[in-house]
Order: sequence, then C-alpha cells, then structure tokens
Amino acid sequence: MSTEAAAATAPAVTEAAEPLAPVITPTAAPVIHPLWVRVTHWINALAILMMIGSGWQIYDASPLFGFTFPHQIALGEWLAGALLWHFAAMWLLVINGIVYISLGILTGRFRRKFFPIRPREVVSDFIAALRGKLSHEDLSVYNAVQKLLYVGVLLAGFVIVLSGLSIWKPVQFWWLTAFFGGYNTARYVHFAAMTAIVTFLTVHVVLAIVVPKSLRAMIVGR
Ligand code: HEM
Ligand code: HEM
Repeated sequence: MSTEAAAATAPAVTEAAEPLAPVITPTAAPVIHPLWVRVTHWINALAILMMIGSGWQIYDASPLFGFTFPHQIALGEWLAGALLWHFAAMWLLVINGIVYISLGILTGRFRRKFFPIRPREVVSDFIAALRGKLSHEDLSVYNAVQKLLYVGVLLAGFVIVLSGLSIWKPVQFWWLTAFFGGYNTARYVHFAAMTAIVTFLTVHVVLAIVVPKSLRAMIVGR
C-alpha cells in the first residue's frame, strides 16, 4: 500500500486527541509468565503428549486391564516404534523438567505462586469455580485450586519419572523398583500416574479455552 493510500485509510484522530495525553502502550503491562516459564511449559506440553501417545501404544502390546487404546490416538505404530518415541521424548521431558524446576526454586517462583495452599481456600475456591464465580481478573495470582493442581501434577511428574526409571532399568535401579513394590506394581503405578496427568490435562486445557486470556499470557507473557 502507498503512503497516500495508507494515510487515506488511517483513522483521523489527530484533531480530537489531547496534545499532551499520556501514552499508555500495551508493553506497560507487567509480565505474568517470564520467557523461561513459557518456553519450558510448551516444551513440556509437547514432551508429555509424545509420552502419553507412545505410552498408550506400549500398553496395547500387553494391556494391564481389559481394554486397549485406539490405534489412531497412539504414537509409534507398534511396540518397538513406541518404545523409541518413549525413550526419545523422555530426555526432552526430563532435561526440560530439571530446567523448569531448578529455575522455579531458584527464582522463588514456586514459593510465590504455588504456596501456601490452604485447605479452606481450596474448598471455597472450588465451590466458587463450580458456580462460575471465580475471578480471573489478576492472572498473576493463582487461586487455591490451581495451586493444588499445579503442585499435584508436578508430584505426578516425579512419580511417573521414577516409576518409569524402575521399569526401564529394573536391574540398575533395583532399589527403586523394590521401592515401588516390584516390576509389576511399578507398571501399575506408572499407569496410575499417567491417568492422573491425563485427567489434569483435560481439565487444564478446557479451562485454558474457557479463559482465553490465560492462554494468551502463557504464549506472549502478558
Ligand atoms: C523418565 C520418564 C519415563 C520413563 C523412563 C518411562 C519408561 C517406560 C517404560 C520402560 C515403559 C514400558 C513398560 C513395559 O514394558 O510394560 C513405559 C510404559 C508406559 N509409559 Fe512411560 N516412562 C516415562 C515417562 C512417562 C510419561 C511422562 C508418561 C505419560 C504421561 C508415560 C506413560 C506410559 C504408559 C501409559 C505406559 C504403558 C504402561 C504399561 O503398559 O506398562 N511414561 N514407560
Ligand atoms: C497441551 C496443552 C496445554 C495448554 C493449552 C496449557 C495451558 C496453560 C495455561 C493457559 C497456563 C496459564 C494458566 C493461568 O495463567 O491461569 C498454564 C500453566 C501451567 N501449566 Fe499448562 N497447558 C498445557 C499443557 C500442560 C501440561 C502437559 C502440563 C503438565 C503436565 C502443564 C502444566 C502447567 C503448569 C504447572 C502451569 C503453571 C506454570 C507456572 O506458573 O509456573 N500444562 N498452562
């Protein structure tokens, strides 16, 4: 577009505007999620989706329960392919997780954002959420239910990694396998942690869609 054409289509605001009116640009808004949180969050989301998809394919080769996962939503085509995906994405998950957790502790973010978690507030915020009366005004402060869920999913992450290690290398990590009550029980623990993460993820993604500005903040930071 030429400069004349651009000037012709631009809204004529100059006469009406106050000459010394303060200019408030969007960049003045404080950052809610620093870059390291956003980058590690989305790498984690990708890694977890690959772990879930390949995990389901692994499960299908030798189901623990009376059902299997549909081929279309599993990753890796067959057992060997799925194991390759699982062990490749594992590195992404674990290295990225170590970066996120280290920075979360060192910067004080975890202490500030996730704690304290007061049971009374969890109950009242949960009731408010069910009634659709939870405020989403200030995205920099998590409500008590969010805090509990985020800390909960981090703990599920520890359990799934440790139980995963104990079924991956039961000889080297025999003490870990023993801690989980043996190889077979560790498989059930691993599956239970996956179920907890998938349940969290379902609620988490629905809420991100219901409150789109929170999704925006996790992408652009504010
Ligand atoms: C360090 C991380 C992880 C390691 C070392 C690991 C390792 C393994 C191994 C060795 C198996 C095969 C078990 C068997 O032969 O029966 C497996 C299965 C599985 N994994 Fe993981 N895993 C990890 C993380 C995850 C994550 C993050 C998820 C999903 C959120 C996941 C979901 C599954 C599922 C659903 C299965 C099939 C369960 C079964 O039938 O035993 N894993 N994992
Ligand atoms: C794949 C789709 C995902 C979407 C659309 C999504 C979306 C979001 C959004 C919008 C927030 C900001 C919440 C707010 O400001 O109120 C957030 C935070 C968070 N999400 Fe996710 N997420 C996804 C996957 C995951 C996964 C797989 C996990 C972990 C298993 C996870 C764990 C977290 C945690 C722990 C936070 C808080 C981060 C912090 O403040 O340090 N998310 N997510």
